[in-house]
This record gives sequence, structure tokens and C-alpha cells, in this order.
Amino acid sequence: MRGLDGEPVPGAEMHVWQADAEGKYDVQREGGDHQARGVLQAGRDGRYHFRSILAEAYPIPDDGPVGDMLKATGRHPRRPAHLHFMIKAPGYETLITHVFRNGDAYLDSDAVFGVRESLVADWVKQPDGRYLVEYDFVLNPARAAA
Ligand SMILES: [Fe+2]
Repeated sequence: MRGLDGEPVPGAEMHVWQADAEGKYDVQREGGDHQARGVLQAGRDGRYHFRSILAEAYPIPDDGPVGDMLKATGRHPRRPAHLHFMIKAPGYETLITHVFRNGDAYLDSDAVFGVRESLVADWVKQPDGRYLVEYDFVLNPARAAA
């Protein structure tokens, strides 16, 4: 994590969450056990790392009015593979965003129009079969109270 001038943001609090291997979030499951989400803290150098399951594309629920709207507009319900982030640090605006998996078939047709080129990252396959994603979040300074 860094600020607009490139300075590291030490100790930033990062919340990360994603759908599971079946394309569901924990809040969509009976029982409410937390899974595929976590809270971590950046190091003194602003760096962070974590391990998780591979993000995959998933369909949003389309059995209600949203589904009716998608059908009426000829759109599919799928979202390209992504991770969700919320990042908080003193002196900076809270950032809530996604990072999308480059090469996903749905990048150009996200059901909820969330994709921006700057939010697409490479999932680079490693020799052990896992993927490495490197993404440098840039935080805006907090605005002074009006
Ligand atoms: Fe999502």
C-alpha cells in the first residue's frame, strides 16, 4: 500500500473477501460461518501478502427483479473472477475496491459494470501450481473536514 506520492502506508488494515470455489459468498450460505475472507495488516513497508483459494467467475443471484432486468436487457448474470478489498489507514480515505483476474472471459461484460482497466491484474501460475497476484493499492489522502 502506498500514498499518492509513493510513500508506503505502514500498518494499513486490509479486509479481503471472495466467493468460494462454488461461486458463493459465506453470507449466502446457511449457518453464517465466515470463510474466504480475512483481515490483515500491512507491514512497516506497506507490503502485504496472504494466501487464498483461486478466484473464479460466478453468477449473481438472478431469480428476482435483477434477473428480470438482466433478461430484459439481454445480459448474462456472471461476474469475472475477482477479490474484494476494503483498506483503512489513518490519514487516508478508506478504499473499497475489487481486483479482477486478467484473461477472464467476462471482463468486458461484468453483470454489475465493476471492471476498470486499472483494477485488472495478472494471476501468474507458479511452478507449484498456485497463482501469484501482485497489486499495489494507492490510497488518497483524507480530506479535511468541511
Ligand atoms: Fe464479488
